[in-house]
Amino acid sequence: MLDKLDALQQKASAALEALTDVAALEAWHAQYLSRRGELTQLLRSVGQLPPQERPVAGRRANELKAALEVAYEQRQADLKRQARAQALTAERVDVTLPGRPPSLGRLHLSTQALRRIYAIFADMGFQVYRAPDIETDELNFELLNMPPHHPAREMWDTFYTTREGVLLRTHTSPGQIRAMRDYCPEPIRVILPGMCYRYEQVTARSEMMFHQVEGLAVGKQITMTDLKGTMAEYARRMFGVDRQMRFRASYFPFTEPSVEVDMDCILCGGEGCRVCKYTGWLEVSGAGMVHPVVLYNGGYDPDVYSGFAFGMGVERPAMLIHGIDDIRSFFSNDLRFLEQFG
Ligand code: FA5
Repeated sequence: MLDKLDALQQKASAALEALTDVAALEAWHAQYLSRRGELTQLLRSVGQLPPQERPVAGRRANELKAALEVAYEQRQADLKRQARAQALTAERVDVTLPGRPPSLGRLHLSTQALRRIYAIFADMGFQVYRAPDIETDELNFELLNMPPHHPAREMWDTFYTTREGVLLRTHTSPGQIRAMRDYCPEPIRVILPGMCYRYEQVTARSEMMFHQVEGLAVGKQITMTDLKGTMAEYARRMFGVDRQMRFRASYFPFTEPSVEVDMDCILCGGEGCRVCKYTGWLEVSGAGMVHPVVLYNGGYDPDVYSGFAFGMGVERPAMLIHGIDDIRSFFSNDLRFLEQFG
């Protein structure tokens, strides 16, 4: 009996040593220590031994059972530790690898141009004043000195809404009335940026949707000279210190006198090229002295107050600065175009 127990101990210990996973460990336990296991069978057979051999064999078998149980628990703990170590190795992070840079967004080119314009006018004391894209006919036209059926309305092809008298603003000029009514009787120095909408033939130079920045200054001694100085400073800061300006007589119903502001062509310096259509000049902005009727509609007494206003595009100057030859690129959402800026 004792020999059998020794043999079993050797066999069980060697098998326990050799196994490498929990499933094999459980099979080992079943083989030796379960109710039908080999050691249990031997323990049961102790009762059939001659009485004088039973105590020694019984003690030996019980010691072996206890030793194997302890060995089983140790092996179980070892295997768990090994499995944990393997899992940790598998998910180890190599901190020496280069990081993955997050892809960064960028500001739209129109937003970049707008911010540049805000900065230039902020330095001259202009605040940004916001006005809505959806306007009334009254503000977009009537209060700007264009009563119904006024022929000047033809200058802007308009998107009307299904609501009577409500339209998408064709220019940022209705914001002039809003700002005046807000500020009156204080002096005003604001720019009004925003999207404008026109039912236009879309071409390389004209979109149906584009940004404008309106400027408005109202006070007791505002003159055309202030307008000239402001426009010249804008052109210098936006397009370069050597820029020359010229005012060309024009017509807008809401300014009197009205002008188109031109600067010498930034590409050819006034020599004449394809961009300036060989005139040497580029149009920068419509402008003029605020018409007395408009001042009055804004709440100011035109005998006491005067003002200047201008309205300039945003995409067209950006096209000049970056050499973009088609305005349609701005809103066609092609990342290959947009990613080049900013
Ligand atoms: C106006 O819209 C006047 N409200 C400007 C003004 C304001 C005059 C205050 C006097 C006092 P005009 O239609 O010319 O004017 O437009 C002004 C600028 O908007 C143009 O010089 C151009 O840069 C831009 N613009 C006009 N139409 C388009 C278009 N379809 N696509 C892109 N830019 C345009």
